[in-house]
Amino acid sequence: MDLKAQIDQSKLPRHIAVIMDGNGRWAKQHGKMRIFGHRNGVKAVRETTEAAAELGIDYLTLYAFSTENWGRPKDEVTALMTLLVTTIRKELKTLTENNIRLQAIGDLENLPPKCYKELLEAIELTKNHTRMTLVLALNYSARWEITEAVKSIAGKVKQGEVHPDEINDEMITANLSTAGIPDPELLIRTSGETRISNFLLWQIAYAELYFTPLFWPDFRKNHLYEAILDFQQRERRFGKTSEQVTE
Ligand code: IPE
Ligand code: IPE
Ligand code: MG
Repeated sequence: MDLKAQIDQSKLPRHIAVIMDGNGRWAKQHGKMRIFGHRNGVKAVRETTEAAAELGIDYLTLYAFSTENWGRPKDEVTALMTLLVTTIRKELKTLTENNIRLQAIGDLENLPPKCYKELLEAIELTKNHTRMTLVLALNYSARWEITEAVKSIAGKVKQGEVHPDEINDEMITANLSTAGIPDPELLIRTSGETRISNFLLWQIAYAELYFTPLFWPDFRKNHLYEAILDFQQRERRFGKTSEQVTE
């Protein structure tokens, strides 16, 4: 069955976020080292990005490396950072051909210098692309991000630029690394885990959560379509009653 054709174009999420999980278990299943899983995850990244762009999704955010992931064995961290650099370099052409803009959220300055440099270059080279924005969450943690926003607002209060009574939802939103990006309406997590793992805590306040047992390297276009179709079946009430939102 053609899943793509079943998608209601008038009810597309503007922003989809994905917790790409299960690379290690996928590798284990294949009797290989964990990094083999990470390498194979790149194909899923490519497919998901392509599918999202083809559908007309505006923003796709991929959780690629969490602040907590530094705690993994050194070899794995090094291999992941190397993979990041080579992937950005390799995919730059595809991003350009497809008119996709690259952005990144997280504590980027504390990435290895080579990664940081490669990332900034790719962001700069793709900044005028308009079809879709691909946001990579790298060295990202939602609590880090919220802490940074609090520090920044507190600084403005101290300078007398902001009065504490002026602090509201919009101001906090504007001080996050996702400033200017609409909140994700759909959050997908692969690998069967049903947790958020410190991802976009503020921004997913009203996101629809979608969990699939698939390991990330097995995720393909059709799986994205399935997630979107599931999303389109849901009634988003935002605290109201069903009658209010369907009227
Ligand atoms: C997700 O896969 C990739 C990263 C967190 C970088 P994992 O490496 O977490 O795979 P599992 O969860 O151990 O299977
Ligand atoms: C979340 O996956 C982070 C990324 C996908 C980058 P983890 O595998 O690190 O999360 P936990 O440890 O299972 O919560
Ligand atoms: Mg994991």
